Amino acid sequence: MSDKLKHIAFIMDGNGRWAAKRGLPRSAGHKKGAEVLQEIVKAAADMEIPCLTFYAFSTENWHRDKAEVDYLMNLLRQYLSSELKEVKERGARIRFIGEREMLASDIVEQMNKIEKETASNEKFTLCIALSYGSRAEIVHAAKNVAADVASGKMRLSDINEQSFASNLYTSGIPDPDLVIRTSGEQRISNYLLWQIAYSEFYFTKTLWPDFSPKELKEIMDDFNTRERRYGKL
Ligand code: IPE
Ligand code: IPE
Ligand code: MG
Repeated sequence: MSDKLKHIAFIMDGNGRWAAKRGLPRSAGHKKGAEVLQEIVKAAADMEIPCLTFYAFSTENWHRDKAEVDYLMNLLRQYLSSELKEVKERGARIRFIGEREMLASDIVEQMNKIEKETASNEKFTLCIALSYGSRAEIVHAAKNVAADVASGKMRLSDINEQSFASNLYTSGIPDPDLVIRTSGEQRISNYLLWQIAYSEFYFTKTLWPDFSPKELKEIMDDFNTRERRYGKL
């Protein structure tokens, strides 16, 4: 039996392929993907998983066509203003990780407001990775640490794994126990590189818009059979 599962991190992939299979525009896949996100958050909350992280938009996704990026940003606006209300009412502490400077100011304002409003909620943590890239996150943390040493706020000898991790966007969030990627791709795509040092992985061929609470339960059953050794015997 594995340790108690505290955090699942999802890579929601396959929206475009789901739409293409149906002869629909990629945007239709993103729309359905956002509905599935809402369904999975609710199911996971009912299953009392304390922390969930979803990869919604990567720093690399900025290189997609402008029309697709615009569509995703508008979907995000809608998600922040309506769908997240229901999640807030369920007692979620909501956090956003990623490069906020790249996002439009009205979106950043909404994100800041939601984080503030939910900061003292304790039922579960919902973390959304937006404009997120793990290498950028690590560079950002390294700069913070360097600035603290240069200004005398911190000594060189104070730098350790813990103090470094407290400068990552995920500060205060436990490392993922399980990473689930949909769509059959078996790669990490610049996601939580520091945090997944000892995570378990599950790759499913299911495209994200077809992902279901039932499959989530099956994956958790699989996770519960794994033996996590952390290098020990
Ligand atoms: C995941 O689906 C959503 C985002 C990356 C924003 P994709 O848009 O990557 O869909 P595929 O991988 O092209 O099918
Ligand atoms: C990873 O999916 C990013 C998100 C799910 C937001 P991508 O579709 O962007 O990743 P690659 O390009 O297949 O590695
Ligand atoms: Mg993809």
